[in-house]
Amino acid sequence: MEGAPYIKSDIKEKYVFIETFGCQMNENDTERTLSFLRGPGYFKTDCAEKAGLILVNTCGVREKAEQKVYSAIGRFKELKNENPHLIIGVLGCVAQKEGARLLKKIPYLDMVIGTHNIHNIAFLIKEVAENKKRVAKTEFYATLDAREYSAHQEGGVKAFVSIMRGCDNFCAYCIVPHVRGKEVSRRPHDILKEARELAEKGTKEVCLIGQNVNSYKGDATFPALLKMVCEVDGMERVRFVTSHPKDISDELICLFGEEPKIAKSIHLPLQSGSDRILGLMRRGYTVSGYLGKVNILRNLYPDISITTDIIAGFPGETGEDFEKTMDCIGEVEFDGIFSFKYSPRPMTDAASFKDQVPFELKQARLERLQSAQKEITAKKNISLVGKTMEVLVEGKSKLSPEELTGRTGCNRAVNFAGAGEEGLYGRIIDVLITGAGANSLKGTHQKESGLLCC
Ligand code: 5AD
Ligand code: SF4
Repeated sequence: MEGAPYIKSDIKEKYVFIETFGCQMNENDTERTLSFLRGPGYFKTDCAEKAGLILVNTCGVREKAEQKVYSAIGRFKELKNENPHLIIGVLGCVAQKEGARLLKKIPYLDMVIGTHNIHNIAFLIKEVAENKKRVAKTEFYATLDAREYSAHQEGGVKAFVSIMRGCDNFCAYCIVPHVRGKEVSRRPHDILKEARELAEKGTKEVCLIGQNVNSYKGDATFPALLKMVCEVDGMERVRFVTSHPKDISDELICLFGEEPKIAKSIHLPLQSGSDRILGLMRRGYTVSGYLGKVNILRNLYPDISITTDIIAGFPGETGEDFEKTMDCIGEVEFDGIFSFKYSPRPMTDAASFKDQVPFELKQARLERLQSAQKEITAKKNISLVGKTMEVLVEGKSKLSPEELTGRTGCNRAVNFAGAGEEGLYGRIIDVLITGAGANSLKGTHQKESGLLCC
């Protein structure tokens, strides 16, 4: 925000600025929020100073993420002082968790919109603008109101489609079931309608999202739903996230081989390599069960990308437990890991467990995990040099405007020379991998097909 030049007349009541924290679920909620705002005439702006409506979509999974939210909102206080008509709202997990308390904590906040209430946003804005109320709407609804997902996404080369809301697993560390409510699945008919609409607007890749997609229960099994989405005309790649290791079925595993549109990539959160800790976490699988699934996937599909989440320093985690996690990281050689220090969250059981691990120890364990994985990722990326891979072109690279960027089926970012080749946007092309960095690959566009890998 600093230093951005603007004049008061630049402020437009119907410009909305939205800042998003957290996971894909939140990114999708932001998309949905914007689509509900299109009806009442709002346009998105990337400049908070010009906006008449500022929204912060929050994540409460870890305490650090929650703290970031408060500092983000703090940045907008001055804008509210300058423009009393500015409406500021908070969405997402922190909105749900705190409810009306947030209005007390933040006197210049106008709206708190809970996770089941995004579709009510236009009404809530009216309450603020016309009836001069400050509002908090955080009711949970047991059934899924089709209106919640009725708005039309703008679309892009890639899009998310939510297939379910909530989670019934109650892992001991996780706040999600408390702030997103019970698991409810959308109807296949509605999901397919959304996917078809996106394909008509030019979307080529859809990612079906839910906290635990394998437990989808909407008049079709999850693999059956995936098959139907693969049949949508114009949709060329289909992904899904997040899969729970306890629920991944043989049928789903086989689908990777049967449906060429399904990207060979799976996110399978392990969380810990110790059975004792997995039991305390209430994850519902053992390490050997998990490794068994990984072996089947790798035997059937040697190029499949498997990524995971790991929590370092769950309460009671001993050095021995942690070494077991390190062993798993070394054994599986994941294509990527997202690793976190355990963060005690309100309402969760693990927050009151004895034997909380000291901060410094959690930090040291996290650093060990991350440096081990850094080497593995680098080694894996280097092994792809010389291969030709299918890349869905997403647009210009942010770092180098002369280059285009896209992703392989196994979800690696690839940058390649492509100045003036806008015609490639949204196409799946063959790219010869010529170099490997820590987080991305470099390549050259192969005009002739010569596919070797995923
Ligand atoms: N502390 C640290 N990490 C957490 N996650 C969820 N809850 C916590 C917590 N309390 C991590 C898990 C999950 C990912 C989305 O966030 O690894 O898979
Ligand atoms: Fe949280 Fe576990 Fe549900 Fe994932 S499966 S959202 S970690 S409770």
